[in-house]
Amino acid sequence: MCTVTCLASINIAVIKYWGKRDEVLILPVNDSISATLDTDHLHAKTTVMTSSTFKEDRIWLNGKEEDIKNPRLQNCLTQIRKRARNSNQWKVHICSENNFPTAAGLASSAAGYACLVVALAKLYQIEDDITSLARSGSGSACRSVMGGFVKWCMGSESNGADSIAKQIVPASHWPEMRILILVVNDTKKKISSSIGMKRTIETSDLMQHRIKHVLPNRVKIIEQAIIEKDFKTFAEHTIKDSNQMHAVCLDAYPPVIYMNDVSHTIINFVHAYNEAVNEVKVAYTFDAGPNATLYLLEENVPEFVGVLDHFFPPGINLEQYRKGLTFKEVINS
Ligand code: PMV
Repeated sequence: MCTVTCLASINIAVIKYWGKRDEVLILPVNDSISATLDTDHLHAKTTVMTSSTFKEDRIWLNGKEEDIKNPRLQNCLTQIRKRARNSNQWKVHICSENNFPTAAGLASSAAGYACLVVALAKLYQIEDDITSLARSGSGSACRSVMGGFVKWCMGSESNGADSIAKQIVPASHWPEMRILILVVNDTKKKISSSIGMKRTIETSDLMQHRIKHVLPNRVKIIEQAIIEKDFKTFAEHTIKDSNQMHAVCLDAYPPVIYMNDVSHTIINFVHAYNEAVNEVKVAYTFDAGPNATLYLLEENVPEFVGVLDHFFPPGINLEQYRKGLTFKEVINS
């Protein structure tokens, strides 16, 4: 028997991947940029095992057996086995657990597929780029294979060979950067990101403007801001990109709506705070769900959390959020 266990964390995009040019190969219509969280708090933990006694491939997610025939999973497994550098032909058993809500707009699939691919790559001794393998499971997963700030280059080849993720800088480049996740709702999202993207690309007029006229420049600006540790530029473009992703979603027909009233309250709160302190100290971004992710520098965390504590319902300890607890768990703790 051979066993490998790995941890991988979620990544939070500051330039959103939204829209595919190839649904099967999972090739995006734009470059995207994210930061991968460290694995201390929110992570997927995956163990893969092979044994001569296993009769079939099987997978358990959070303790419950799932369908191994899931096309994306099959895609990943087939590609990994094709690239295997050893002759392991045994069936594989996969156990994966997330210590945070699954499919609630917290990029759980990104951490899950990144973790799965890293573990299987170890098992099958694959040494070259594995981000494209993770991409075939869930697009944004390719960015979780690496730490720090990561760019997923959309690439131009039709077979996807150059649609890979690359690290811009390691986490140690900007050690003062902090991420707070405000879990507004931890239930499964109603419209999956795949359906949301498809509908947006097929029906939104604004989407073409985003892809052609906004993103090429914004990607360069934010990449430079990360390299120069220019928080203000980084924060402004992070905010604008989140808002634009949700604007094109709203422009889809029928509209794709991920944020709720609490999300909008958080947006107003962050802008009000930045205005009050006369500086852009906090950036927000929202994925395909109502939960807010905030980027801010360590030196500003105590003051911001203090103000947040004051305005949001008393008794909610934000320390708990940073440990990855859900809203319900925080309330009950
Ligand atoms: O990788 P997917 O299919 O779960 O899509 C992720 C899409 C966003 O999280 C909304 C944006 C991103 O770049 O992570």
